[in-house]
Amino acid sequence: MSVVLEETRKIEDYLAMPDEEIASRIESAKRELGPRVIILGHHYQRDDVIRHADLFGDSYQLSVMASQTEAEYIMFCGVHFMAESADILGKDSQHVILPDLGAGCSMADMANIDQVEDAWQQLKEIGVVSEKTKVAPITYMNSTAAIKAFCGRNEGVVCTSSNAVPLFDIYLKEFEKMFFFPDQHLGRNTGAKFGIPLEKMVVWDPHKDLGGNTEEDLHNAKLILWRGHCSVHGRFKPWHVDKVRADVPGIRVLVHPECVYEVVQKSDLNGSTSYIIKTVESAPAGSKWAIGTEVNLVNRLIKRFPEQHIQLLAPDLCMCATMYRISPQSLAWAMENLLDGNVVNEITVDDETKHFANIALGRMIKLTEKK
Ligand code: 13P
Ligand code: SF4
Repeated sequence: MSVVLEETRKIEDYLAMPDEEIASRIESAKRELGPRVIILGHHYQRDDVIRHADLFGDSYQLSVMASQTEAEYIMFCGVHFMAESADILGKDSQHVILPDLGAGCSMADMANIDQVEDAWQQLKEIGVVSEKTKVAPITYMNSTAAIKAFCGRNEGVVCTSSNAVPLFDIYLKEFEKMFFFPDQHLGRNTGAKFGIPLEKMVVWDPHKDLGGNTEEDLHNAKLILWRGHCSVHGRFKPWHVDKVRADVPGIRVLVHPECVYEVVQKSDLNGSTSYIIKTVESAPAGSKWAIGTEVNLVNRLIKRFPEQHIQLLAPDLCMCATMYRISPQSLAWAMENLLDGNVVNEITVDDETKHFANIALGRMIKLTEKK
């Protein structure tokens, strides 16, 4: 199928359409395209998008779904790094479409491949990365394909919030140190689960020499954490936990491990978006939860489980603005273009990057399934 730009439908034409018309256009395009298209949706997508998804899940589940689907077109309702991962894991004949190219991730943008290569080189120059010292580069799924490829080339792996613990378990046994990109909080929270003391987890600031550390700090460190974070989960503060406990006696605090260490330490439970969902699903009526993750997911849980008390951990809106860029309008626009034979907003990763990123993603899936 070729891209015919002159005939491409215009997104502006969809913006003024009534919601119900948009919804019925998406459904009728889905019917017409049949098994040729699959719509995948991340748990943080808004209700009016997720209602059209064939399958939805957290970032790990979505990567497995993308690797297994036979559909010719993967319409990805998530953010850019997830669509890139789908392209890496999918077949060469498949096309991955991100309905709005503005759906990025501010955390993934906090590390670029040149900075990562430069950091690795600096670590080599001071002998932290050497034949003798095995350092595993591990990247969170929320990173560019180029960084995943870097990990693939250097014996490393990709992880998500749902498999960080088992993958750390494997890599901490096999390697002396780990260099973790780009989410310092997931790295620190996971390291803490293995009893690594805070002073052995140093932060690498890409804008400073040696990441702002001394050579000695880096030689002594067990975990080197890239200085990145999620601005959505960063909004949850330790005082929110104290306040909700004081306001609602018996409430349990359930947070995503992208939250800062102090919040995770104060919480009752922490885990990926799927873990959060499963925890609430298996809780009895009358359970009380303050949840520290993206608001669209929390609001869906509130609607699904009216017999439980569920609230967002913070009083302000913790919404992922980039996830929100995927709208029913952009989905309808991309689907109807597909009906016309136009693939719009295709996400492609070049062959060389794909090869090595696939090694790191493939390792992740294989090791996660083995555990
Ligand atoms: P998970 O889907 O792995 O829970 O990650 C959450 C997230 O921030 C996705 O960007
Ligand atoms: Fe990125 Fe945070 Fe949004 Fe996830 S929730 S896509 S980590 S900004």
